[in-house]
Amino acid sequence: STQKTLAMIKPDGMSGNYTNRIKNVILESGFRIVKETIVQLDEDTAASFYAEHSTKSFFSNLIKYITSGPVLVMVLEKENAVADWRDLIGPTDAHKAKVTRPHSIRAMCGLDSEKNCIHGSDSTQSAQREISFFFKEVSTGAAVTEH
Ligand code: CMP
Repeated sequence: STQKTLAMIKPDGMSGNYTNRIKNVILESGFRIVKETIVQLDEDTAASFYAEHSTKSFFSNLIKYITSGPVLVMVLEKENAVADWRDLIGPTDAHKAKVTRPHSIRAMCGLDSEKNCIHGSDSTQSAQREISFFFKEVSTGAAVTEH
């Protein structure tokens, strides 16, 4: 059924001017861009967004990276949006993406396992939380997709 998911072009994607190419891939792949906003995350907001990673060794680097410049946050909608968007962006490690998934978005604009240029919600639960995090007013449709 129709789902929404959260996409975020990270600072390296923004500074590398990949926004238009990424949006073209999004639209060509059948997603609708329901909402979008450009934000500069501060450290507290970034730490809250990435709370699940707070105990990881890379957490402080992640917060530095994601606050290093503006990000473009989008709500995407299509059938099976959560899994299809994760598939389209490719593996976390952009270096691996270039080898195993050359047509993925991370292969296009990412560098390594940290600077991977784009975010995608990893589950319908994460999508609901992350969409509400940035867009208080958007209904996620989670009740429809989970029953
Ligand atoms: P993502 O999977 O979208 O969300 C968590 C982010 O943490 C990940 O993208 C990377 O940007 C970053 N990350 C994950 N693993 C590492 C790592 N081993 N070293 C540095 N950053 C990482």
